[in-house]
Amino acid sequence: MEGKTCIVTGGNSGIGFETALSLAHQGANVIILSRNQEKAEAAVKSIKAKSQNKSIDFILVDLSSQKSIRDASKYILKAHDKIDVLVNNAGAWFSNLVLTEDGIERQFAINHLAYFYLTHLLLGAFIKADDARIICVGSDSHFHGKINFDDLALGKKYHGIKAYAQSKLCNVMFVYELDRQLKSRGINNISINCVQPGLVKTDIGIKHAISFHSFAWRIRRMGGVSPARGAETSIYLASSNEIRGVSGRYWDKCKIKPSSKKSYIEEDAKKIWGISKELCQVEDYFSTVL
Ligand SMILES: NC(=O)c1ccc[n+]([C@@H]2O[C@H](COP(=O)([O-])OP(=O)(O)OC[C@H]3O[C@@H](n4cnc5c(N)ncnc54)[C@H](OP(=O)(O)O)[C@@H]3O)[C@@H](O)[C@H]2O)c1
Repeated sequence: MEGKTCIVTGGNSGIGFETALSLAHQGANVIILSRNQEKAEAAVKSIKAKSQNKSIDFILVDLSSQKSIRDASKYILKAHDKIDVLVNNAGAWFSNLVLTEDGIERQFAINHLAYFYLTHLLLGAFIKADDARIICVGSDSHFHGKINFDDLALGKKYHGIKAYAQSKLCNVMFVYELDRQLKSRGINNISINCVQPGLVKTDIGIKHAISFHSFAWRIRRMGGVSPARGAETSIYLASSNEIRGVSGRYWDKCKIKPSSKKSYIEEDAKKIWGISKELCQVEDYFSTVL
């Protein structure tokens, strides 16, 4: 991975931290995107010390804010005209319905729209790489997901589990749709894949949860694997030569597996693509590669 520029969102903790650490061990220039300066500084310090790689940096971004994503992208593109790897990893779980400053339900905004928007803004830098790889961290929770087209915020009957599953179904559909669109434009140096990390012992179910949900997550995660194990497939997809050019697939334990039936419905993927474009005010998703 030497000489490659890799971006990992949510690289300050959990699966993202381990992904960034492994890429650093492999010699990549790693940039972690984090919303918290203290956590970001601590993560960079720790990755540098463990990997002996000095080329580790962070950029502050609140992925629930479209303005913040735009600002971070501008900052990244000023310093890097070519990006080799983007791991869309940051994610969150909210017990209660909370809207972002853009008026969007938070899980939908952070878990799906941020992947969609950041990828769009950076596309012009992936096109310059020989073998650009976009990895979206999804979840098998998407198997229970349903896209509530009439009420994406689930305002009528919000539940964190439903909103999470919906956002994770959007991850898989986004990956399949972008893959189709890249292929239809003859763009074959950019691959995009979705990863399911399994049940992983992280704090995701605690940070924005009411005490009952937080308690339930503490019990549930006991059966999970370590963040380092949970990161293995993301790392494999970001760095393995074996899978060069493989795109538009759903991965678990470094193997391709089928995703849910709903995730293959192209009509729905196109619909959610259109809604995401509107919500992010993106007219032409590929304008940045022209
Ligand atoms: N843990 C599991 O069992 C599991 C299973 C399936 C899928 N996943 C997926 O794995 C990914 C990583 O989650 P994790 O389990 O490693 O949890 P985690 O340790 O909480 O990591 C999530 C990362 O996302 C960041 N983040 C959240 N909201 C953000 C925002 N608005 N702006 C910027 N960064 C933000 C977090 O920052 P802070 O540290 O500041 O909160 C953190 O760095 C997520 O996409 C999750 O859905 C996890």
